[in-house]
Amino acid sequence: TASPISPPLDNAVADSFVFAFDIDGVLVRGGKAIPEAIEAMKVLDGQNEYGVAIPHIFLTNGGGKTEEERCRDLSKQLERDIKVGQFICGHTPMREMAETYGTVLVIGGEGEKCRQVAEGYGFKDVVTPGDIIKHDAATTPFRKLTEQEHANSRERDFSDVTIDAVFVFADSRDWAGDIQIMLDVAMSKGGRLGTRSETFDEGPPFYFSHNDVVWSAAHEHVRLGMGALRRMFEVTFKDITGGQGKLNTHAFGKPQVSTFEFASRLMTQWRSTEHGLAAPPSTVYFVGDTPESDIRGTNAVNEKADNDWYSILVKTGVYQEGTEPAYKPRVTVTNVLDAVNHGLHREM
Ligand code: G3P
Ligand code: MG
Repeated sequence: TASPISPPLDNAVADSFVFAFDIDGVLVRGGKAIPEAIEAMKVLDGQNEYGVAIPHIFLTNGGGKTEEERCRDLSKQLERDIKVGQFICGHTPMREMAETYGTVLVIGGEGEKCRQVAEGYGFKDVVTPGDIIKHDAATTPFRKLTEQEHANSRERDFSDVTIDAVFVFADSRDWAGDIQIMLDVAMSKGGRLGTRSETFDEGPPFYFSHNDVVWSAAHEHVRLGMGALRRMFEVTFKDITGGQGKLNTHAFGKPQVSTFEFASRLMTQWRSTEHGLAAPPSTVYFVGDTPESDIRGTNAVNEKADNDWYSILVKTGVYQEGTEPAYKPRVTVTNVLDAVNHGLHREM
């Protein structure tokens, strides 16, 4: 006998355009979904007047957990399934450097999470600030390891260790201690802890997963981000080396064009495996809240790319209504639901 419930019809899929979303200040604030974001996801999944599903990916500067864990969190917040194949966080592109360096110092995040992320990317020898403090507690006079941190940190003889590169994967949980350790490495002879360079120009490279000075969290005003840590590190280095030293610092994440190009490759892969689409989209709508990262980067990649990267600024995060954004979006809308509808109506 036939079932009274007809199987759901497959949604048609939009093949000429895609959406890419920033997360903090657009979809989420302080760990909670912005209400319109949940509605926006439904529109993307085909609950719109055209019955068309819209391919989309997520591109956040945030990090500190594996991509799998971040996707699980985001799926809960947005009440629908988000897969690793459509997700990039600040440190995701750093995995391409796992083979380049031997021993790396990884900074930021909760507990051992960033070490696990780095090892998951294939970095062979990952040191944390905890390992260094465990070896010599005098390193950070005001930071004592908790019992748990002490147990998790690895015992090793640092007289023998050369730090080949430093990666700031996520926001520091102890700015003073982490900046102290970063300075020790930057001022060392070629990355050997406990040594002091005479010229202060032979430290290893420092990679930050992004450069956002502020970001949008639960508080009504923006909060300090990794870009602020980088500034403090750079200014302090200059002060204590009398301006004679030389630092080697780089930032990944938005607004770097290479990050948007990385996103473009993920998008190609995702559209093909998830939706069976081979031809590239003519328009990529990027929805963000931070002019300096989201809008700047989208506009910059638009200069280079064959397709149209269309920047949309929302008012739910860093950008404040009534101010002049440092980088001008193609359009400014109230929230992410308006952004999705704007793109959809422009296309259909
Ligand atoms: O720490 C994360 C923050 O700087 C920005 O995240 O999602 O707005 O790129 P997002
Ligand atoms: Mg944001």
